[in-house]
Amino acid sequence: MEIGGMKADVLAKQYGTPLAVYDENRLRDRLREFTEYFRSGSFETTVIYASKAFNCKEMIRLISDYGCSLDVVSGGELYTAVSAGYDCAKVFFHGNNKTPAEIRMALEAGVGTIVIDNPMEAAELVKQIHGTDHKVNVFLRVNPGIEAHTHKYIVTAHVDSKFGFSLVDKEEIFETVKMLKAEENIDVEGLHAHIGSQIFEDKAYEELIRKMFAFAHELKNIAEIRSVNLGGGFAAYYTAADKRISVRSICRTILETCEEENEEIDGQIKRILIEPGRSIVAEAGYNLYTVGWIKKTPNRLYAFVDGGMSDNIRPALYQAKYDAVIAGKEYLPTIHTYTIAGKCCESGDILIDSIDLPEVKTGDILVMKTTGAYGYSMASHYNKQALPAVVFVRDGEAREVIERETYEHMISLEK
Ligand SMILES: Cc1ncc(COP(=O)(O)O)c(C=O)c1O
Repeated sequence: MEIGGMKADVLAKQYGTPLAVYDENRLRDRLREFTEYFRSGSFETTVIYASKAFNCKEMIRLISDYGCSLDVVSGGELYTAVSAGYDCAKVFFHGNNKTPAEIRMALEAGVGTIVIDNPMEAAELVKQIHGTDHKVNVFLRVNPGIEAHTHKYIVTAHVDSKFGFSLVDKEEIFETVKMLKAEENIDVEGLHAHIGSQIFEDKAYEELIRKMFAFAHELKNIAEIRSVNLGGGFAAYYTAADKRISVRSICRTILETCEEENEEIDGQIKRILIEPGRSIVAEAGYNLYTVGWIKKTPNRLYAFVDGGMSDNIRPALYQAKYDAVIAGKEYLPTIHTYTIAGKCCESGDILIDSIDLPEVKTGDILVMKTTGAYGYSMASHYNKQALPAVVFVRDGEAREVIERETYEHMISLEK
């Protein structure tokens, strides 16, 4: 089992476990694919990396090398971008409850775009920016009533989402746009929507584009909406139950549909934006664990590992499925069905419910695949588990991009 040209067990020995490892060339390949294929002769195009999937300084430097813009949703994510030397003019600040302090921080850092989520937030932005030297572009996050998650999408009026302005209440949107437009330091540039995650169906995006373009046109008399941000949600390959989606084909579908819809509204839209997170980082990431005790119960054979829901909450949070191998045993025949359980004090701390593997022994290195998105970024200190180290590996060379947390680090803020 090699990652970026290095053996998994060598990485485990060198850096310890649990360990998050990224194959840097795979990250770069994905960034190259998105930036190459999301281009059009008809529109200006922008790829925004949704950093919630994995936000750290080195990742931000990497996306910057490919000319990507950056989505942040908190003061902390923004602070990391500033610390990485990222050009804040290319930052898109999202979130349903940006605090007044975060809005101030964004304006002072020179954030280029704020995505407005609700009328109260719009009023706060107007209050803060009025009479200052700050300028900001604004997108309005709308909730188009399309919900798309793994393998299916549903067109229903999901009117109760905590995110964005529901298209059911257009009057509220009109009033908010008018309020924002009246402020000379604000440029109301576009509309934004994000309809879900792990989306395999191109059709969901086609439906989204139709709704967004039609609504941009409807707003024409109030504001010159010239940009549409279609959010992220492109699926990653986790297990054999998933189909692999092609970045090239999804980009083509999106851009062609945008071209068609733009004809309907006399070429009003000039810029299209997408916000992939998971699809850039998930498949490049691997979590390495050392196997501890093996335990047999009447109906299960457990292999316990030295991490768990504290470094990857996704299986416990939403029954996410993963594939794994035992380093050095990937070509041996599978002989048992194991449950891979973490070491946290929750019965739900199961990383993989059922997986066929060769004989697993204490001390083996278990390599979980496709862990690069929403793993480290959702990690917690539950049970005072220290956060793992994160390593990027490229052409046979590894470098630590986040150190392993020590117990001293962990309690350093405690009085
Ligand atoms: C506004 C917004 N944009 C982009 C994303 C990225 O989604 P994904 O990682 O599924 O591509 C998210 C994820 O929650 C989001 O909320």
